[in-house]
Amino acid sequence: DWTMAAYRDEKIAQIREQVGSAKVICGLSGGVDSSVAAVLIHEAIGDQLTCVFVDTGLLRKDEAAQVTTLFREHYNVPLVHVDASGEFLGALAGVSDPETKRKTIGRLFVEVFDREAAKIEGAEFLAQGTLYPDVIESVSATGGPSAVIKSHHNVGGLPDFMKLKLVEPLRELFKDEVRALGRELGLTDAFVGRHPFPGPGLAIRIPGEITPEAVATLQEADAIYLEEIRNAGLYDQIWQAFAVLLPVKTVGVMGDARTYEKVLALRAVTSTDGMTADFFPFPWEVLGRTATRIINEVRGVNRVVYDVTSKPPGTIEWE
Ligand code: XMP
Repeated sequence: DWTMAAYRDEKIAQIREQVGSAKVICGLSGGVDSSVAAVLIHEAIGDQLTCVFVDTGLLRKDEAAQVTTLFREHYNVPLVHVDASGEFLGALAGVSDPETKRKTIGRLFVEVFDREAAKIEGAEFLAQGTLYPDVIESVSATGGPSAVIKSHHNVGGLPDFMKLKLVEPLRELFKDEVRALGRELGLTDAFVGRHPFPGPGLAIRIPGEITPEAVATLQEADAIYLEEIRNAGLYDQIWQAFAVLLPVKTVGVMGDARTYEKVLALRAVTSTDGMTADFFPFPWEVLGRTATRIINEVRGVNRVVYDVTSKPPGTIEWE
């Protein structure tokens, strides 16, 4: 699309002019927005850019590996991968309240990011994948599923001790335009078409206390769910799809034996902006196949339910 090509060239010129010969740090979340911002900035200034990817251990299965492979091998972007999963799980031990989870993750995220950023000598700029809706909704409590820092602290919520100037090349764009720009930059349809994912990650998809075992169980179940959605050709019709691991055990039967394991809830919604949403009307076969696979393949889950709540009155996430 020629307009997006022109837009890309204009942005590249602007980034070069803003940044000059200075170094830029980009916080990579694994999501579409921060990835597109990073690739665009890398096109503009090459190795003046270093990406910092704070791995909270709360991403989807294999997502951390996919992001690091994409940036290191395909785009050859200098990337610092910080495995902070132990720190995050440690800080979350004993925490059940949703807002306390968010605050704990947000605080630690900034701490870890800042610690790593401080090691990059001479950096003057911080790049973020802030979108237009983030700019206009900058005071909302949860924020949209966007840039890595923003998702925890909203626009302008940068910690004082990070005295970096901002580079935000996506500030004028809506989500679909970011996807188009990503394609223009050579990212695959599968990559740019990925569903939004919240900053606090799987922590808000495990109501109650978060344990490493619960995270691992949820990652496995969620991966099967998404695989079945992709196999059914439905992924692109859905705004977000994910599993929620409930802190509730129910009785089941496996062979001759009684089981007593957790319930997993599946959620999928259509939406244009996340502000309102309808539950996705899956064909029953897809849900049935997914449930059978999860119960057979994932230890610790013996019952699967589907959430048919729309927004409002429900929210998209469960916490
Ligand atoms: P709700 O659950 O409020 O979600 O209907 C609306 C959209 O926002 C995402 N979401 C978040 N994104 N940090 C984020 O970056 C958060 O704390 C957060 N909470 C919800 C949610 O995934 C959906 O896209």
